[in-house]
Amino acid sequence: MSVDMKGKDLVSVHDLATEEVWQILKTAEMMKLRQKSGIQERPLAGKTLAMIFHKPSTRTRVSFEVGIWQLGGYALYLGASDLQLRRGETLADTARTLSRYVDGIMIRTFAHADVVELARYAGVPVINGLTDLLHPCQALTDIFTLYEKRGRLAGLRLAYVGDGNNVAHSLMYAGAKVGMHVVVATPEGHEPDPQVLAGAKRDAAATGGSVEVVTRPGEAVRGADAVYTDVWASMGQEGEEDRRRQVFRPYQVNRELLDASGRPGVLFLHCLPAHRGDEVTDEVVDGPHSVVFDQAENRLHVQKAVMALVM
Ligand code: CP
Ligand code: NVA
Repeated sequence: MSVDMKGKDLVSVHDLATEEVWQILKTAEMMKLRQKSGIQERPLAGKTLAMIFHKPSTRTRVSFEVGIWQLGGYALYLGASDLQLRRGETLADTARTLSRYVDGIMIRTFAHADVVELARYAGVPVINGLTDLLHPCQALTDIFTLYEKRGRLAGLRLAYVGDGNNVAHSLMYAGAKVGMHVVVATPEGHEPDPQVLAGAKRDAAATGGSVEVVTRPGEAVRGADAVYTDVWASMGQEGEEDRRRQVFRPYQVNRELLDASGRPGVLFLHCLPAHRGDEVTDEVVDGPHSVVFDQAENRLHVQKAVMALVM
């Protein structure tokens, strides 16, 4: 079972077929194993990835840059002030120009519509490295990490507790594609985007999974195989930090909440960076249930798989 993904964009996991999601996970598994055995592969020799960053990054930047280098290719880092975009050149013209030089474009930006626009005009694959709406590379990595730890995905129950943000949205899409039960607990007014929820529910109906939104964290985590959280104020929401800290306080993932899963082997996930003492306690993030640095490492393997498949 192999699907040709050459030339395909990764704007949203929702756009992928379940077979494509599995192809990425299986390719990442193989690439990780081979790398750990000292086997070097250069499927992207001579190829170049442009990386546009309008927001900061530790994991995404380093894992893409190191990843393409390991595959024999080269990455260009293009920060917010490095392109003529800032001086009014359109995204469409930027996309068409870059496509004459490079073999793929990775972009991290604010408006999701900008990534859609870039992908529309680029003649090379566009990979979404995070928007205000979605973070698909993260979610593919998260389900890959769960698959590594549990040996299966269908039927697993994942509780996401906190802000109904980009990370929550992509997890809902990714979980739905592979038959997981995703339960999201958010305070009122911070629920996931209704359109994303509707799309994820449709996908889940096709795979035997489910996606549900509740308000009580305890209800979400009951029986969960994994508990996930993310920052309460995302990049671009810096001015709202104090207000959000008040609203989200009952949504902190601490030992008590993790214990409420009733599962001794429950896993704790976080995309990082973590705001320790806010959405998660030190005890949990550094504790025996935490797999957060496996997630961080797996960004490398999963994105190498994505690049090798689409570029
Ligand atoms: N998880 C994640 O995307 O991290 P960075 O913001 O450091 O890239
Ligand atoms: N929700 C966070 C994720 C960071 C990787 C943000 O957008 O800042």
